[in-house]
Amino acid sequence: MSSPLPYSMKDVHYDNAKFRHRSFSKVINQTLLTRNIRRDCLGCSTGKFLVLVLMFGLAYLMLTHAGPVPSGSGGLANNIGTDNDGSSRFKKFWRKPPRLPPRLSPDEKRTGNGLSQETDNVNSRAKWTARRQSVKDAFVHAWSGYKKYAMGYDELAPLSHSGIDGLGGLGATIVDALDTAIIMGADDIVAEAGSWVEAHLSEKISQKGQVNLFETTIRVLGGLLSAYHLSGGDGGMRLTSKGPKPAVYLETARNLTDRLLSAFTASPTPIPYSDVVLHDSSAHPAFGGLSSTSEVSTVQLEFNYLSMISGDKKYSTEAMKVLEHIKTLPKVEGLVPIYIR
Ligand SMILES: *[C@@H]1O[C@H](CO)[C@@H](O)[C@H](O)[C@H]1NC(C)=O
Repeated sequence: MSSPLPYSMKDVHYDNAKFRHRSFSKVINQTLLTRNIRRDCLGCSTGKFLVLVLMFGLAYLMLTHAGPVPSGSGGLANNIGTDNDGSSRFKKFWRKPPRLPPRLSPDEKRTGNGLSQETDNVNSRAKWTARRQSVKDAFVHAWSGYKKYAMGYDELAPLSHSGIDGLGGLGATIVDALDTAIIMGADDIVAEAGSWVEAHLSEKISQKGQVNLFETTIRVLGGLLSAYHLSGGDGGMRLTSKGPKPAVYLETARNLTDRLLSAFTASPTPIPYSDVVLHDSSAHPAFGGLSSTSEVSTVQLEFNYLSMISGDKKYSTEAMKVLEHIKTLPKVEGLVPIYIR
């Protein structure tokens, strides 16, 4: 310390330069101890109790902030979500074991109630068929509400009976529900959703504004690719004869992804920006320059599959750069931070 005078309570005047030279915790320590305790309560038991509480708190802070800061995490990575050794040691100490689901006894696992195995199986099959029908009925009910009040919008607002575009306006419900409808054999819905895609989706893709790369990839691109595969494209299962030809889904998927690709190509790094403006194919990061790690590292499924079925490597090439980059980042217990700049 450069101060020529010993620190004294009588001289409760710091000039700023001196203050900055002191270790922060020392200043806090001395200030709090001397101000609150020496002056008012030294000698009274409340005072002693407060000293103990204070010291315990400081010890906790020192323990949790004393560990080394992970190095080499500058550059593209940032430190949000990382933790130092001291803190994780402390947290581990307090961590409760995870709650496990209750285990069924062998008796409860069987659906049996004293009947023969065969009757049992028949009952069980009937029960599951009824349950499966209930799920399908619920799906058809939800679709009919959406179709009546919100067709073409991203979502149905069920109380106000209206549609809202919360995901950029590409009819997210329609495309997101399409593969479910195909798998359930809800052919009327497949026909309705499929013809909407064929008639409207490419036009919307070329006109709409900002969409989130991740949401649009998993719902709209993922829905189109699933519909392509499940309606017979790529030698996939042909679960439906309704809706447009598989090639329409594929072409629409390419029309969309050619624009989404700007999130990758506009970024100066291997990490794509979080948002794309569809009509002019521009892209920008979210507020603060961050992209979500889980978002940028999960779109590879759709981008790789699109490259596979279209024969055009560019989608896969861009998406896989993200994973290559994440491999090189410093990790804490195998994990990278939840945001990436
Ligand atoms: C894809 O976009 C092009 C250009 O906007 C358009 O002509 C074509 O019809 C679109 N494809 C489909 C399947 O909608």
